[in-house]
Amino acid sequence: MQYDDRTKALITSKYPLTAKYDIKWIEENAMGSNPVLLAESLSRVIDFKPGMRVMDMGCGKAISSIFLAKEFGVTVYATDLWNDATDNWKRICEAGIQDKVIPIKADVHKLPYANDYFDAIICINSFNFYGHSDVFLTEYVANILKPEGVFGLAFYGPTNEFNGKILEKLKPTWHTFECIYHSLDWHKWHFEKTTLFDIEMADDVDGDGCGLLMGNFFDDGTPDLSKAPFGYMRWNRLVARRNHVPPEKFWEGGM
Ligand SMILES: C[S@@+](CC[C@H](N)C(=O)[O-])C[C@H]1O[C@@H](n2cnc3c(N)ncnc32)[C@H](O)[C@@H]1O
Repeated sequence: MQYDDRTKALITSKYPLTAKYDIKWIEENAMGSNPVLLAESLSRVIDFKPGMRVMDMGCGKAISSIFLAKEFGVTVYATDLWNDATDNWKRICEAGIQDKVIPIKADVHKLPYANDYFDAIICINSFNFYGHSDVFLTEYVANILKPEGVFGLAFYGPTNEFNGKILEKLKPTWHTFECIYHSLDWHKWHFEKTTLFDIEMADDVDGDGCGLLMGNFFDDGTPDLSKAPFGYMRWNRLVARRNHVPPEKFWEGGM
């Protein structure tokens, strides 16, 4: 994908760490957004420290993983289903960061990690492909994220839930695929209702109260959400901290 001028200007003015990276490298390896920019946005609200063990869940081509390892000295388990671990390893080696980024090909529903393993899990533009089931956080995240560990989410979605009707203004560009998008409030409740996480912060990705549009989703131009009226769809971020309630208790809640 290629970023529009608006996105390029925004990187230069607001994302100095992202601006250090070759825009062509990002464009070639991004899968629908700008994962480096979104990782930088999350790094402003998550205190990444050298040596922390981080999973980049649904990392795609692992460029956000490479970015976090290089900029913050964290060890990143670059975990993805559709992309080959060998391809990601090649990119990791080319970036010279093979001591800090480990490529893993795995389904998030069958992750090979030990319980309480991660200090942080980040998830950039991929949660809506697998994370929206009511039991996803309890069954597949709460166990591997250690107590006090953080989950950082960057995602695209409507400003508010449409609640039964697609807005008239969005209909001309609406695609069936867009049923996977949910609002920031929807996601906050998704975490809150598990009682296993405390929401630390939730806002738009720039933290300036408005949205951010980043080009098309597919090379053929569909669905072209960048043409959606500005203000209805936006990029969000959310940070939730894992508390000490054991996830094993979940099914003991009266079911
Ligand atoms: C839109 S891409 C985003 C990738 C990357 N984070 C980025 O921003 O470039 C969504 C990613 O979710 C991953 N994904 C979808 N379902 C998955 C699953 N069940 N387990 C692991 N990863 C999954 C895909 O492999 C894909 O790379």
